[in-house]
Amino acid sequence: MFVPKKLIVTGGAGFIGSNFVHWVIQNVDDVEITVLDALTYAGNLENLKGLPEDRVKFVHGNICDKGLVEELFSRADSCVHFAAETHNDNSINDPEPFVETNVRGTYVLLQAARRFNLRFHHISTDEVYGDLALDDPNKFTENTPYNPSSPYSSTKAASDMLVRAWHRTYGIMSTISNCSNNYGPRQHIEKFIPRQITNILVGIKPKLYGDGLNVRDWIHVDDHSSAVWKILTKGRIGETYLVGANGERSNKEVLRIILSLMGKSEDDFEWVRDRPGHDRRYAIDSTKLRTELHWNPTKSKFEEGLKDTISWYVDNRSLWMGQKDCVEKKYSLSE
Ligand SMILES: NC(=O)c1ccc[n+]([C@@H]2O[C@H](COP(=O)([O-])OP(=O)(O)OC[C@H]3O[C@@H](n4cnc5c(N)ncnc54)[C@H](O)[C@@H]3O)[C@@H](O)[C@H]2O)c1
Repeated sequence: MFVPKKLIVTGGAGFIGSNFVHWVIQNVDDVEITVLDALTYAGNLENLKGLPEDRVKFVHGNICDKGLVEELFSRADSCVHFAAETHNDNSINDPEPFVETNVRGTYVLLQAARRFNLRFHHISTDEVYGDLALDDPNKFTENTPYNPSSPYSSTKAASDMLVRAWHRTYGIMSTISNCSNNYGPRQHIEKFIPRQITNILVGIKPKLYGDGLNVRDWIHVDDHSSAVWKILTKGRIGETYLVGANGERSNKEVLRIILSLMGKSEDDFEWVRDRPGHDRRYAIDSTKLRTELHWNPTKSKFEEGLKDTISWYVDNRSLWMGQKDCVEKKYSLSE
């Protein structure tokens, strides 16, 4: 078992990274965290509010900055790498930052992990596997061939390949996890669930792409955090673990639940044009993680998790209101 004492979390001011830092501070004693984050439009220091200053330090910087990364890695024993450009729609409009951060940034971190012999856990996505037909009886497993569809997923796939090669060639102590779609507090409002919730809150009709039948396999962000901690501390070096909570739902189903939880008619939404290359269905088989590392999700009641998530957006209007116009303006160009 690996016991992290000085952990670097890249992208820790974003959605999943910040929830992971909160989860670790609540659930683990005796570990100090340094968050390295460039605070792009997706990062927000408010996401780290309330954390103890003696255990969590924030460094404003870019993972592509070799000097800074080496300085931080020289004083740490481990890194969990969340930092990425993550929004599919943005990657279609401008892929360059995706190649820079997701591929080159991961390369810079791997070189530093190699130099300072850090335990390195790379956070990836199920989107590297492409998509499944709605009626396909199979789910993604660790053996599914990579088949990414978008600039986003292709750069994540490329970063996974770098991690695998750096392990095999240079023996770095790495693991990879590919997780399904996360939901929960602190997610940027450009993403599907928070966009729907905040649209309803500001009086805009929610919008649904295509025929609404695209299926995502939802997991609460806290369950992702507990899985990452399991893999970081108990995972076998060089291995990949898929993370999922059997939460398959169509986009239409999810939107109808949100509308109903927010006291609206379930049909109170508009259809909009589908985006190019939109993956049909993702589904994760997480048997390896469950049997080998004895991980189990504890927040698998989707409606309950959604209810709490809605409450978070209601209670934290000041965190997202300033971004709402800009996000909707961007969407209006393609919808
Ligand atoms: N959101 C999901 O459902 C999901 C599912 C599976 C995997 N993932 C993966 O989890 C990770 C985190 O996703 P998220 O949804 O929290 O993303 P996010 O967009 O909310 O946050 C990304 C964070 O990375 C930071 N960042 C971006 N470029 C950087 C750079 N060059 N240097 C330093 N920091 C930089 C941003 O400022 C932001 O704080 C990503 O690697 C993503 O591929 C996400």
